[in-house]
This record gives sequence, structure tokens and C-alpha cells, in this order.
Amino acid sequence: MIDIHCHLLNNVDDGSQSKEWTLSMLKTAVNSGIKQIIATPHCWPGVRYLNDRVSIEHAYLEALDLIKEYDLPLRLYRGCELFMTDDSLDWIKSGRALSLNDSRYYLIELPWTSPQDEADDQTSYLQAIIDMGKLIVIAHPERYSILKNDFSLIQKWRDMGCYFQINRTSLINPDCWEYELAWKLVNAGFVDIIATDAHHTNGKRIMRLDDIYELLKAKFDVEKLRACFYDNALKIIDDQLI
Ligand SMILES: [Fe+2]
Repeated sequence: MIDIHCHLLNNVDDGSQSKEWTLSMLKTAVNSGIKQIIATPHCWPGVRYLNDRVSIEHAYLEALDLIKEYDLPLRLYRGCELFMTDDSLDWIKSGRALSLNDSRYYLIELPWTSPQDEADDQTSYLQAIIDMGKLIVIAHPERYSILKNDFSLIQKWRDMGCYFQINRTSLINPDCWEYELAWKLVNAGFVDIIATDAHHTNGKRIMRLDDIYELLKAKFDVEKLRACFYDNALKIIDDQLI
């Protein structure tokens, strides 16, 4: 399996805060059957987490060293989770924002809660990225209030060419607030990739995909299962069209 969304790099955002923390996350990933990872630290251009290629270099090399030192069967790539800010389009335009493994794909995070009349702004923002010749993976759409209040937006974004990444945790924990919308998206076919969005070494947001894979076996045919846990992520890494 491949995880395209996680926060395992040491001390670059609110994920891992130590080398040991990163190592523990890498080991959890291996134990759950993950073989390739795109590290996606938060990036909020002009606000905080100003993560670009230069600023994450030390943490990225440190994680690569850990993989080598502990002989972990993992491939690690760079990316970021790019939050929609006033400056983020400029960061994409200038090449400062990290795409997923230097592909055309950007992992885009939208505001979790926003007034419903901002739907058009968000759609225009996504369109502006597409107009730059880029491809969009929307991170955890199940978290966005704007979508909860107007589910038709998801079809609009799909028609524009956006892909959708749903978090493992949103689907396995019935008590979480994203659960209902996450399953609504899955049931309506608006899921292209399942990822961990892991931040921690224990608790809920950890680097496992095996449990949600087992759960979705009952729901998806073999092809869809493969697409969501492997094929689509591999196409992103290789910069191929999904
Ligand atoms: Fe994230």
C-alpha cells in the first residue's frame, strides 16, 4: 500500500516532534503493509508552516537515514499539504509549493469551516490551480462544512477534474465528526485514495492502512480497492493521469 498524506517529518509542523517519533511512525507503516510514503507537512503560505523544499530538507534526509539505518522496506517521497491562503496560488506559480513527488499533483486543504457563500471562491481557487496545468487531490473532503451543507459541490469539483483523498480515521471511528460525510462520499463514489493523515505514534491518527483496507474489502471490488490503496497513488508518484 501507499500513503500519500502524513506528517512524519521531524519538527516541521504539528506532526512528529522528534527523530524517535518519526522512526516509530515509519515502523508502524511497515507493520501495516505500507511500502511507499509521501511525506506531506502542512504548508500555509504567508501564515505559518512555511514548508518548502529547503525548510524540510534536514527532516527529509533524517527520515531517509532512519529508513536506511533500520533497513526498512520503504520508499519516501516529498510533498506538502497545501492550505488555501491568500499566498498559496503564488507559491504554486513560483514553484515554491511542493507538489506530490514533484508531479503535477498538489494535495490541497480547504478551510474546515467557512460561510456557505464562500463556495464560489473555493471553486474559483481550485479552478485557478487547474488553469496553471496542475492536478488537484483534495485532502479529507469529509472535513469541510461547505460540502456537508451542499453536497452538490463535490460533483462540481469532480467535473473540474479534482480527485478526493479520504482519511482512514474518518471511516473507522463512528464517534468522529467526519464519519457521516466520509461514508457518504465513499457510498457516492467520491473517493480516489485512502490515506492516513498520520500525526502520532499511538492513538487514532497513526500510520496504518491495513484495518481500513480490510473494512473496505466488503464494500469495494478488487479493482476499486487496488485503485484506492495503490494504483492511484502510484500514478501520482509517477506523474501519470489517474
Ligand atoms: Fe494532514
